[in-house]
Amino acid sequence: MPPGPLDHAEERVRSALDALLRDPAEGWPEMEAAAGGLEAAGRAAIATAQTPEELDATELRLLKQKGVLNLLLRSVGQLPAERRKPLGAATHRCRAAWGAALEERRAALGAVATRRGPALDLTLPGRRPFTGRPHILSQVRDELVEIFHGMGFSTYEGPEVEDDHHNFGALNFAPHHPARDAHDTLFVEGGVLLRTHTSPVQIRAMENVPPPLRMVFPGRVYRAEQLDPTHAAEFHQIEGLYVDRGVSMAHLKGTLTAFARAFLGAHTRTRFRPSYFPFTEPSGEMDATCVVCRGTGQVGTAEAPARCGACKGTGWLEILGCGMVHPNVFRAVGIDPEEWTGFAFGMGYDRIAMLRYGIRDIRYFLENDLRFLEQF
Ligand code: PHE
Repeated sequence: MPPGPLDHAEERVRSALDALLRDPAEGWPEMEAAAGGLEAAGRAAIATAQTPEELDATELRLLKQKGVLNLLLRSVGQLPAERRKPLGAATHRCRAAWGAALEERRAALGAVATRRGPALDLTLPGRRPFTGRPHILSQVRDELVEIFHGMGFSTYEGPEVEDDHHNFGALNFAPHHPARDAHDTLFVEGGVLLRTHTSPVQIRAMENVPPPLRMVFPGRVYRAEQLDPTHAAEFHQIEGLYVDRGVSMAHLKGTLTAFARAFLGAHTRTRFRPSYFPFTEPSGEMDATCVVCRGTGQVGTAEAPARCGACKGTGWLEILGCGMVHPNVFRAVGIDPEEWTGFAFGMGYDRIAMLRYGIRDIRYFLENDLRFLEQF
């Protein structure tokens, strides 16, 4: 590179310094002029730096240990006392002027860098914002409700805090009947309780809507359970109620088998076993062929068969409780059981979701751990 203005200015300072040291009185005017020239040349070099890197290099050159400015500072001590002050002042002026110029130029170059530098790369893929999603149990509930909507059922909801009448009395639980004990009820105060099943919504629906009615009631229910991987004190049920003239057990079996095939797969078979609920007569439970082993009771390979853990080798999963609405339930809501008949069913879907997605502990559903929830 050919010598630039800064090189010339530095050269002039060096020779002025030689002259000054030789003759402090005669040499001073030239030194004063040379120092002023150096300051101006330095400011010009700073102002013309085009990138932050170029500016760094200029700074290094102006202020480096063996630079002219340092040479001047070091020479101050060799002058007679009355000449020291002006030279010191000249070097400090230089340094202050350059410091301010460096700061200003650095800010200007930085602003340019953020305005049109690599900070905005339009070719980078975007960052997807976190939008969340429905909870896995909400997804399962929506799927269940959707299937029943397709069969003409509408959705109706009731409160989670219930009174004894709706949770038990109107459902034909006699006051001291042992069936109440089976529910492990969580009581609030004054005869108020947390509903132990979704069946009280049957009562509320029939109190408010005249028959015929076809409804499902999804929601959360509560029982004082001993907590373990398959028992939580809060879980979820979906209830169904179909009331019309001439509804029979055949409608119950047909509807629930169609539901099982829609939800668990077209290959699914069902069976109905007798059972007992105070609010249905006759009562039953519906089993469906196991979703894991498809009803064979076995998993693994032909050479190394193993017992299916989901159905304990039986090939069947208990899916829901059901039955024909008891005449006393109709009477409790003022519907004439001689004119109307109906069927009802109730199903806990936490367990079905666990089977379907291979979830090992029911408590994961309520822990709100994103590492779990994000998987679905
Ligand atoms: N409510 C019953 C339970 O929680 C299930 C059920 C609902 C049974 C409707 C029959 C009819 O176990």
